[in-house]
Amino acid sequence: MTEVPVVGERTLLVVHHTPSPPTRELLEAVLAGAHDPDIEGVAVRSVPALGATVPDVLAADGYLFGTSANFGYMSGALKHFFDTVYYPCLDAVAGRPFGLWVHGNNDTAGAVRSVDKIVAGLALTQVAQTVEITGGVDAAARERCYELGATVAVTLAEG
Ligand SMILES: Cc1cc2nc3c(=O)[nH]c(=O)nc-3n(C[C@H](O)[C@H](O)[C@H](O)COP(=O)(O)O)c2cc1C
Repeated sequence: MTEVPVVGERTLLVVHHTPSPPTRELLEAVLAGAHDPDIEGVAVRSVPALGATVPDVLAADGYLFGTSANFGYMSGALKHFFDTVYYPCLDAVAGRPFGLWVHGNNDTAGAVRSVDKIVAGLALTQVAQTVEITGGVDAAARERCYELGATVAVTLAEG
């Protein structure tokens, strides 16, 4: 789901690793929240972590990151994304807002920590509590992801 921003719009870049139907449900809930009809002036770009580039990051005004927990860390795909963009984007993105969601089977703590360290290095500003979901995806999980997407989008809209 990619939108071309019109003049005056702000861009929310969603960078995600979505390896399965349950994680797809979470992504869709995040995007639905970011597209909440009450939020105006925000173009949402959703890009898989393995396809997201330095220009994508530089052109955005805020970020949502989504990943599975893998071996107590973020997914290799999201790690590859950060490896790719970190130094080229350092300084350029300081202060921009972000949010994070993580899905795992039973323990997402290490994955969250791994992202937290990198976004701290980039000096991004966390504007919504990280959403951690373990196990099955139910309505409550989808709702939390919706709120996450909406909160970061509203932050951008209020710019
Ligand atoms: C190689 C591998 C490592 C994983 N490591 C973790 C982990 O450290 N913690 C955790 O909670 N889940 C872990 N998982 C589970 C994934 O996070 C989970 O499969 C993913 O979020 C997709 O969810 P689903 O399997 O319910 O579709 C791992 C899965 C794989 C394939």
